[in-house]
Amino acid sequence: MNTTLIRNGLLVEADRSWKADLLIQGEKIARIETVIDVKDLPPDTDVVEAEGLCVMPGLIDAHTHYHLVSRGTVTADSFAEGSKLASFGGVTTVVDFADHDKKRVLVESTNERIEAMEHGMAIDFALHQGVYGMHGGIEEELAAMVERGVTTIKIFTTYKNVGYLIEMEGLKELFEACKRHKIMVSAHCEDDTLIEEVGKNHKGGHTPADHALLRPSEAEYRAIRYLGTLAKEVGIPLYVVHLSSSRGLDAVRELRSEGVRVAVETTPHYLLLDASRLQGPNGPLYVMTPPLRYPEDNRVLQDALVAGEVQVVATDHCAFTREQKLASDDCRTIFPGIPGTEEMLPLIHTFAVASSRMSLSDLVRVLSTEPAKLFGLYPEKGSLEVGTDADLVLFDPEKDWVMGADSVHSAANYTPYEGFSVAGKAEMTYLRGHLIMGDDVYVGKPGMGKFLKAKTSSTYEV
Ligand code: URP
Ligand code: ZN
Ligand code: ZN
Repeated sequence: MNTTLIRNGLLVEADRSWKADLLIQGEKIARIETVIDVKDLPPDTDVVEAEGLCVMPGLIDAHTHYHLVSRGTVTADSFAEGSKLASFGGVTTVVDFADHDKKRVLVESTNERIEAMEHGMAIDFALHQGVYGMHGGIEEELAAMVERGVTTIKIFTTYKNVGYLIEMEGLKELFEACKRHKIMVSAHCEDDTLIEEVGKNHKGGHTPADHALLRPSEAEYRAIRYLGTLAKEVGIPLYVVHLSSSRGLDAVRELRSEGVRVAVETTPHYLLLDASRLQGPNGPLYVMTPPLRYPEDNRVLQDALVAGEVQVVATDHCAFTREQKLASDDCRTIFPGIPGTEEMLPLIHTFAVASSRMSLSDLVRVLSTEPAKLFGLYPEKGSLEVGTDADLVLFDPEKDWVMGADSVHSAANYTPYEGFSVAGKAEMTYLRGHLIMGDDVYVGKPGMGKFLKAKTSSTYEV
C-alpha cells in the first residue's frame, strides 16, 4: 500500500485552517497530527515537504460539459483531456451532465454517460441527468436514476432549437416526483418567451455583441422567479446554475425572503468578464449562454459571493477550439461555451483571497465543500476528514503568473483569461492517494476516475 506523508502544510477546510502533517495510506487520509514522525512509518514512505503550501480538499467543478455532443459538433475536451486540465487546476471531481434521449428511459442515458466517462476520466465524477421532457411514468425512471446514483436533474427553460427546453406543462408533476425521491432540481434559467419577444423586436444585427442584447438579464430574473415560485408551491429546493446577473440575483433574494430554499452557482466568467469582450474579431471566443453582462453585474455578483449569498463557484466548462468558435460570427450559430476548469482556482483565489475579501476557508467552501454537500458527495469529497478519500491539492498561494494559451492545457487552445495576472497555482494534485499532477507534469491515467454514486443533496436536510 502506498504511504505518503505531507509535512508542514497549512491544512485548509471550510471552517478552519491549521498547520499539521497529513498521512495518506492507500486511497485514504489515514492520520492528521501536529507532527507525524517519519520514523514510525514504512521505509518506502514518500515524504512531501509542504512548507508554504496550502493543503486543501480536492476541488469539485460542479458544472462541466466534457465531450458534449451538440449542435452537430463535439466540444474540444474529451474526458481524458478534461481530466488532465482539471488536475492542473487542483480539481479532482467534476459533476458533468448526461443528455436526455427522450426515446429511451432516463437511466439508459445515465448508464451510457457513466460508461463513456469511466473509460476516459482520470479524476472522479458524478452526474446531473438532463430532463428535457415530461411524460407519464417518468417517476419510475427517476427512481431508477436515483438507484443508479444520480440525485440531481438538470432542466433548461430555453434552447428550443437544440431540444433542451422543457415544456412548462407537466413541470409541477415533475417537481412533485422529485420531491418524493429527494432529487435536486438544477436549472438553466432564461425565460424563452421573453428571449423570443426581444428577438422579434431587435433592430440590430446578430454579431457577438448583439448576443448580450438578445438574451437580457430580465430573462434570467423571470425564469428564476417562475421556477422558484413553483418550487415553493411544491416544497422543494432549487439549484440555479451559472447565475450571470444582478437582476437574476434580485430574483434569488426575493425567493429567499419568501422562504424558498435556493442554492446558487456562479462562474468565474460572470464574476470577472463583461460584455465588452464580445466586441471585435475575437468576440466569438466569449460567447456563452447566458451572455456576459456588464461591470456592475460583475461587482454585484462578487459582493454576493463574498457575502455568502452564492454557495458554489463552478465553471460551465464547455470548450470549443478557436477554429470552432471563430467558424461563425453570427451569435445564433457560434457554438456557446468557454473553457474554465483549470483557471477557476487561481482566478477565484486572486480576486477573492489575495485581495483579502475572503479567507482560504471560504475558498474551500465554495470550490469544494459546498458542492460536495449539495451534490451528495460529502464527506468522502470536500473534506480532510480522516478515513475519507485522499483527494488533495497542494496550492502555492504566493506563486504569481500570467494566464495565456501556453500556460493552460485545454484542447481549446485559448483561454478567455489571456493576460490575467494571477496569484496562486496548484503544485500537486492527488486523487484518492495517487499523484495525478506534480511540478507542472500530468501523471494521471485515463480510466482511473471513478463514478461517484451521489447521496441526497444537503438541500433536503432542513
Ligand atoms: O453556453 C453554454 N453555457 N454552454 C453550455 C450549456 C449550458 O447552457 O450550460
Ligand atoms: Zn446552461
Ligand atoms: Zn452548462
